[in-house]
Amino acid sequence: MGIPYRFIVRPSLRFLDSEKAHKLTVNGLSKFAENRGGQKLLNSIYRTPNLPINVFGKLFRHPLGLAAGFDKSAQALGAWPSLGFSWAEYGGVTRYPQEGNPKPRMFRSNSDVALINRMGFNNPGAQNVRDTLAQREISGKWPNVPLAANIGRSKTVGNERAPHDYAETFNLLYDYADIFVLNISSPNTPGLRELQEEDHIREVVNACTSIRDKKSGLKPILLKFSPDLDRDSILSCAGAALSSGIDGFVATNTTISRPPPKNTSSRKFLSESGGLSGRPLHEKSIQCIGDLYDSIGNKVPIIGCGGIESPDTAWNAISNGATLIQLYSALVFQGPSVVSQITNGLNKRLKVEGFSDIQEVVGYSRI
Ligand SMILES: Cc1cc2nc3c(=O)[nH]c(=O)nc-3n(C[C@H](O)[C@H](O)[C@H](O)COP(=O)(O)O)c2cc1C
Repeated sequence: MGIPYRFIVRPSLRFLDSEKAHKLTVNGLSKFAENRGGQKLLNSIYRTPNLPINVFGKLFRHPLGLAAGFDKSAQALGAWPSLGFSWAEYGGVTRYPQEGNPKPRMFRSNSDVALINRMGFNNPGAQNVRDTLAQREISGKWPNVPLAANIGRSKTVGNERAPHDYAETFNLLYDYADIFVLNISSPNTPGLRELQEEDHIREVVNACTSIRDKKSGLKPILLKFSPDLDRDSILSCAGAALSSGIDGFVATNTTISRPPPKNTSSRKFLSESGGLSGRPLHEKSIQCIGDLYDSIGNKVPIIGCGGIESPDTAWNAISNGATLIQLYSALVFQGPSVVSQITNGLNKRLKVEGFSDIQEVVGYSRI
């Protein structure tokens, strides 16, 4: 299936603009993977090995999940496990529905193996997403893998009201995810990244934990960092979050930095504003994972995200401290077979290097 995707599906999608291609993919998947037959067929094509890992009191079949932003309105939840992902993050969801920024707002460069997006949290809003999820649950189509909800701040709400805004979305989605990720690091909502400061972080995290105190189940709340923070800022933000009871970190979101252009079309691509993801992000995100791991060790789990596209890049993230990993861009460039390719590669390397399970690899190159 890797070959048909690369030689038939991807070239056809290439004639469409990136956002249209993405929409077609998610719509198609959401229809195809809603029934058992479709799921079974996909499962038999995209086989992944068992590399079990226990995180947040849950068993993940292997560490690789779908990153936030691909399934913003949680419409294709049946598809992600069928493609081999062991977990998936839906959203970013904001309290209120948002159109996002004017189009075009998503760009890809094959020579950079990278995307730039300035979507601006286009999503139908927390109440609508909750209704979609409730409907899925009632119809017995709830996926049998852990799910994370990515929560963003509404554009019309200033940072002074941000804690309340995050907490309301958290409250609405509480029954419909196993893990919550507070996204304070998207470059595409004006002022959002200013929340990456100790006092703001305490307020946002406290607003959510006080809602959680009234619920059952103590579901984990994570904070997602930007790769553009320097080491000291990451560590002070992490310290503030930990003292407010955060349960883990996601490292990282997209970057506003740019690598040197590779050619003329790459120069044009890199001049677009927005967040860059994919291959050029990998080193920065590894740096952030490693800095966090050196500072907090195994206190709380780190989820690695950024330029994971192969067994080696996945291994790099895990051995630098990530317990779970996620990808987005590699799915666009390589198609769904990237999930089995990465997890099978991890399995092979585990055996070659003499580890007994994937948990042992977490952080081993930082020792
Ligand atoms: C089009 C697009 C939309 C995204 N939307 C979100 C989002 O809503 N919330 C979020 O936390 N991250 C979002 N991200 C960031 C990804 O979750 C991920 O952190 C980033 O793309 C790095 O991973 P990658 O290199 O595997 O793509 C988005 C990324 C892309 C490309």
